[in-house]
Amino acid sequence: MRTFLTGLALLAATSAQAQQAADAVQPEAATQGAFEAISPEVAEALEAKFAGTPVTADNWMVAAANPWAVQAGADVLAAGGTAADALVAVQAMLGLVEPQSSGLGGGAFLVYYDAATATLTTLDGRETAPQAATPRLFQDAAGEPLGFFDAVVGGLSVGTPGTPALMADAHARWGALDWSALLAPAITRAEEGFEVSPRLAGLIAADAERLGRFQSTADYFLPGGTPLVAGDLLQNAAYAETLRAIATGGVEAFYTGPIAQDIVATVQGAEGNPGVLSEVDLSLYQVKERAPVCVTYRAHDVCGMGPPSSGALTVGQILGMLESYDLSAGPADDEVRRLIGDASRLAFADRGRYMADSDFVPVPTDGLVDPAYLAERAALLSGDDALPEVAPGAPAFDHALNWADDASLELPSTSHFVIVDGAGNVASMTTTIENGFGSRLMVRGFLLNNELTDFSFRSHEDGVPIANRVEPGKRPRSSMSPTIVMQDGAPVLAIGSPGGSRIIGYVAQSIIAYLDWDMDVQQALSVPHAVNRFGTYDVEEGTSAEALAPALTELGYEVNTRALTSGLHAIEIGDGLRGGADPRREGIALGR
Ligand code: GLY
Repeated sequence: MRTFLTGLALLAATSAQAQQAADAVQPEAATQGAFEAISPEVAEALEAKFAGTPVTADNWMVAAANPWAVQAGADVLAAGGTAADALVAVQAMLGLVEPQSSGLGGGAFLVYYDAATATLTTLDGRETAPQAATPRLFQDAAGEPLGFFDAVVGGLSVGTPGTPALMADAHARWGALDWSALLAPAITRAEEGFEVSPRLAGLIAADAERLGRFQSTADYFLPGGTPLVAGDLLQNAAYAETLRAIATGGVEAFYTGPIAQDIVATVQGAEGNPGVLSEVDLSLYQVKERAPVCVTYRAHDVCGMGPPSSGALTVGQILGMLESYDLSAGPADDEVRRLIGDASRLAFADRGRYMADSDFVPVPTDGLVDPAYLAERAALLSGDDALPEVAPGAPAFDHALNWADDASLELPSTSHFVIVDGAGNVASMTTTIENGFGSRLMVRGFLLNNELTDFSFRSHEDGVPIANRVEPGKRPRSSMSPTIVMQDGAPVLAIGSPGGSRIIGYVAQSIIAYLDWDMDVQQALSVPHAVNRFGTYDVEEGTSAEALAPALTELGYEVNTRALTSGLHAIEIGDGLRGGADPRREGIALGR
């Protein structure tokens, strides 16, 4: 286990840190239409933000994407609450202050380490497809896929939310404090208001046309027809009322009764693009406990969420293939980048072919991360240049496998937070409403997800079914990768990120930075990104990663320089706690 000095009790993120984080506003993704128009930050400013040091603490810590949410979690932990208690408070607050990324209308995955039993549990609070959904949900009359935003905006993309049920399930399993008290800080903040952050303001401005299509959404984000700006005081009485209903009535008050009826009416009544979600879907929703997926890397067990997430399997495949290669030359070395890039491409090829909701399609989970299979795939990396072609492998499995490759699009949104409590319990949770502002439908103070667009829009290719096609009751494949890294049965690092399917690259790179490049947790999150999924090497604009471009081009890659707005949060657990927040967003770490 790593050790580090913690002599100082403490910590609190300084206001300078918070400001620095708040300044780090960047567009969600250049792929999101109007965001293209937002200029990336200049190189010096971005690199300067990457120079932070970890926050340290002796007892407990929380790191998340917004200071209000971090404070809510910290107050719970200071009062003796568990990591499960704190995650309820953090999530409730994130749904208010970072509404574009996660909330009651979305879904989440949780990896939880329970110190008393030394047990790692993964909980699946993913959205589900309505019972009335069919494999052709996102196809036109001719069977052709809809345009992405034609599918996203409106009711068609809305799956049954899972986040409220996940909060309640985690609290029931591991919570110690009163449920309603955990929702109180978000209720108060919703009533008293909070200042719109620069990041939220920038995203509202960039998405104003879509947000303006639905009255309740427009009223909230574009009052009087004008987008909110940074510093505006934003109150949300409807959200406070919803939380009060859940505080007193439990999570059933969300899944049945007037709130559920309003959700359904909003989805089915969405003008121009109505959906098929019903009250039955809501009443049937269940959190699922899944077996964690763990892969050994550098004498650690890297553990995370299995299907319907592709996160742990794909991160695990990348690391498993790289296990036999020396990466110590670091992130500026083009050979290291070749190895990571092509291991990622190989893993993404398997992901596209085999990974989906394992309750609906047989997934060769064990075969995909079997050391012998990964060694076979790793041997493909032994050349000198970029692989000219990458294809899925043939992992061992007890079923016949005949799937076509997937064609789903995942654009960045989402949020990740990590919590360690005073008893050593650890929560690593990635939470989402999918696209920024989800379906753009707002009901009772929160946005509804567009998670169903994480399914493949195509259901078949040349007559062969796609594993991640839409089916009623199925959960769309995710890239979310909430992770806990274990050593000798104890957690040493909790980490995760938003970022669509680039989440996988962000998390894998950060773990490599931590374990291979001997970086502290803040340095690991701040390494300039270079991410490869399908062949093109994305390098992070405005950072030293741009210098990789000529060598990567020489190796045979197409290189695309672009903003890569991860939102990594991590806590390192050793003699004390060290936390990091991604300088590209507005989050902080805070502990004592
Ligand atoms: N919607 C983002 C993900 O689940 O990967």
